[in-house]
Amino acid sequence: MPIRCAVAGLNRGSKFVEMLRKNPHCEVVAVCDGRPEKLAQFPDLPGFAEFRQMLHEVTPDVAVIITPGPAHAEQSLAALEAGANVLVETPNVYSAREAEAIVGAARRKSLKYMLAEDYIYMGWCRELAKIVESGCLGTLIGAAGEYTHDCRGFSAADEDGNVVPFSRLGEPGITPLWRLTDLPPLAYSSHTLGPLLSLMDDRCVAVSGVCGGRRDVAGVDVFPLETAVFRTQKGATINLTNGFIVGHPLGFFFALYGTEGSVRIVNTGTPQGYIATDAEGSRWRELALPWADRTDGCDHVQVMVDEFIDSVRNDTAPPIDEARSMDYCLPGVLAHESAKHDGKKLEIPLF
Ligand SMILES: NC(=O)c1ccc[n+]([C@@H]2O[C@H](COP(=O)([O-])OP(=O)(O)OC[C@H]3O[C@@H](n4cnc5c(N)ncnc54)[C@H](O)[C@@H]3O)[C@@H](O)[C@H]2O)c1
Repeated sequence: MPIRCAVAGLNRGSKFVEMLRKNPHCEVVAVCDGRPEKLAQFPDLPGFAEFRQMLHEVTPDVAVIITPGPAHAEQSLAALEAGANVLVETPNVYSAREAEAIVGAARRKSLKYMLAEDYIYMGWCRELAKIVESGCLGTLIGAAGEYTHDCRGFSAADEDGNVVPFSRLGEPGITPLWRLTDLPPLAYSSHTLGPLLSLMDDRCVAVSGVCGGRRDVAGVDVFPLETAVFRTQKGATINLTNGFIVGHPLGFFFALYGTEGSVRIVNTGTPQGYIATDAEGSRWRELALPWADRTDGCDHVQVMVDEFIDSVRNDTAPPIDEARSMDYCLPGVLAHESAKHDGKKLEIPLF
């Protein structure tokens, strides 16, 4: 029997429909989007404007939730309560209370719940995992990450839903999009925190965050750039900087600090990697790294989707289980809460 999958949110979610269709063990049985033109991309599939109605009428084995972030927790809970396993995009939650409710529901119902954190599946992260596993960095005692992406170009829309320049916010009929109203930068930390914690095999337990440039934009309390310091369970530090309303094109920075060596990567379009180990005389040498491309030639999102489907088919733990899904997102959400309170230290619950 194929695993019956339903996909909600058909912008990025369209890619997931295609990926699920490439998996020989899956059947996509329905799609959901509030906009008819999005449903029209899949004329061969039953389309629903309402997520709960889709769950009720189709009763899928798997709900793939690729809607805007603020809908994720409620839709995940509805899907779990309806008996569906969940694969959900980042950010998966916006509070510790939501995280607790989802972890509780997944465990009570014995269902799989996985954050679709695809960066862990990218070629660069797989290559770094081999370096960490070799032991040449010694014990990892710290890490740093930056995900800074000027999102002003897709933060405002007109009455017809067309994206318009950020500078038009405040004009009649121009409204902010969810990325401006409901996506504080550190709440979108899993692309850096997920790979870092996965490579460090660690968890964040406390955080303090601050914000730069906080201001009112057409009635929205905007946090343009945020920085946080995390303490991990193993006693390491992680510092993260994320920014969305900032004059900085998409750029990444990752660093792992070890007792015997370190790596650092900067990506402003092409990844540039460096490694230094005691054994090699503690001098930086260039580290050739891919970005998304994997040595096995597979699409990294396809591998993630396939591994989740395998966990449902075989009733095994998903590669990013419900606790790990929270480890990768919730610390960033709490970092933003801390930034709202000028760096107040917050404990991070572990599930
Ligand atoms: N992993 C990545 O690299 C990556 C990249 C882009 C986006 N994302 C994440 O993917 C998710 C979707 O991003 P996007 O860029 O497609 O967003 P988007 O706002 O461009 O599109 C969201 C789609 O969902 C639909 N929608 C909105 N509310 C809905 C609801 N309640 N029920 C059903 N459909 C609804 C909208 O009509 C739209 O078609 C977000 O969580 C985002 O953070 C991840």
